[in-house]
Amino acid sequence: MSSQLQSATSAQSIPSYLHADDLGPWGNYLRQVDRVAPYLGSSSRWLETLKRPKRILIVDVPIELDNGTVAHFEGYRVQHNVSRGPGKGGVRYHQDVTLSEVMALSAWMSVKNAAVNVPYGGAKGGIRVDPRTLSRGELERVTRRYTSEIGIIIGPNTDIPAPDVNTNEQIMAWMMDTYSMNQGQTATGVVTGKPITLGGSLGRREATGRGVFVVGTEAARRVGLDIKGARIAVQGFGNVGGIAARLFEEAGAKVIAVQDHTGAIHKSSGIDTHALLQHVGNTGGVGGFAGADPVANDEFWMIESDILIPAALENQITEKNAAKIRTKIIVEGANGPTTTAADDILHDKGVLVIPDVVANAGGVTVSYFEWVQDFSSFFWTEDEINQRLERVMREAFNAVWQVASENKVSMRTAAFIVACKRILMAREMRGLYP
Ligand SMILES: NC(=O)c1ccc[n+]([C@@H]2O[C@H](COP(=O)([O-])OP(=O)(O)OC[C@H]3O[C@@H](n4cnc5c(N)ncnc54)[C@H](O)[C@@H]3O)[C@@H](O)[C@H]2O)c1
Repeated sequence: MSSQLQSATSAQSIPSYLHADDLGPWGNYLRQVDRVAPYLGSSSRWLETLKRPKRILIVDVPIELDNGTVAHFEGYRVQHNVSRGPGKGGVRYHQDVTLSEVMALSAWMSVKNAAVNVPYGGAKGGIRVDPRTLSRGELERVTRRYTSEIGIIIGPNTDIPAPDVNTNEQIMAWMMDTYSMNQGQTATGVVTGKPITLGGSLGRREATGRGVFVVGTEAARRVGLDIKGARIAVQGFGNVGGIAARLFEEAGAKVIAVQDHTGAIHKSSGIDTHALLQHVGNTGGVGGFAGADPVANDEFWMIESDILIPAALENQITEKNAAKIRTKIIVEGANGPTTTAADDILHDKGVLVIPDVVANAGGVTVSYFEWVQDFSSFFWTEDEINQRLERVMREAFNAVWQVASENKVSMRTAAFIVACKRILMAREMRGLYP
């Protein structure tokens, strides 16, 4: 923590929103930044930039519910850093969304976009709401009012939202339409992850899961693990976890365990992911799936696997369960699933962790392709998109692998070294205004 922040917080009983003792996602992010400081050379002069989001907008989202009453929801949009380009990052709908979480997610977007070298800064948004409790009409009203409220800071050249937990292409369509109505012209480039008919990109829906698969196979190759027959465990069977699991299975791996918000299941001979995707589509979760055995949620972490993919929420691998995890490689599909304390435990156990800022960057990479296609009104084939995605992911993985080997640091610290250097170099070359 900087000395300025320390003195500010010790003098007051209410801590600053930037406080590093926050054990939530923001505190976790600050610890990750501190770890990279010794490797930044002269750029470290600018490090404080990374510890402060550039801009935070908190909005009230009131809507009329179907029963005639009025409900209010908390909404956020945080632009962490825009030194390298417009803000970019998803919008999350979840009942537990907090400012700390959205701040951390926006900062990880800055790091991620720099790690894979797409020309964006980092941003993120969220609404504190459980969308499962809303009707379709209520969901649309929440989305449109939120978009209108954050409309003063988003735009195709300023900040471009995308889907995240519990948001999808329909929500992106409503966001694009609301923003466009307020502008008086159709602005397809204001969000990515849109339906194909509205300027969305082929391959975007699968992109994050595909990226997880690409870096997972690259990591396996480096440690001499054959994907054929490899045992995969996945937490979260939504967009990211579901697609990644399917691709690993198609490549000959066995998906032996899955956990989501409805429970955990296990089958050592391999779960049929197509059948499981269908079950989740019909019932909303993996719980009750007849093709595998139910297991307790905390037992999920103890199941022996070769590759473990956390693809749900942050702070899932902590000092409480890290020591019990028996796997060779962790590929972080989710953002921020591993705390720094757990990172250390896993490192001591010799588990290779491929950090979120590289592992799940496939989504933002194809979002970037979507944005470029929208601006040029020229659309590429799915094969072109997947090939370009694979190239970006492999190049990012290899660059981070090399920095990790040279500096004898974890892949996470290496990814932060690569990314923070890029961000802080941009900061330095632009100079401070005024
Ligand atoms: N969708 C993307 O393109 C994208 C890109 C980068 C990172 N991510 C990250 O990947 C993660 C998953 O996102 P998604 O888009 O797949 O979301 P999603 O809404 O499609 O799926 C979320 C999954 O997490 C599970 N889950 C929720 N709460 C849980 C809990 N308490 N315990 C266990 N499982 C729980 C849900 O059941 C669901 O299977 C998030 O961390 C998100 O930020 C997503």
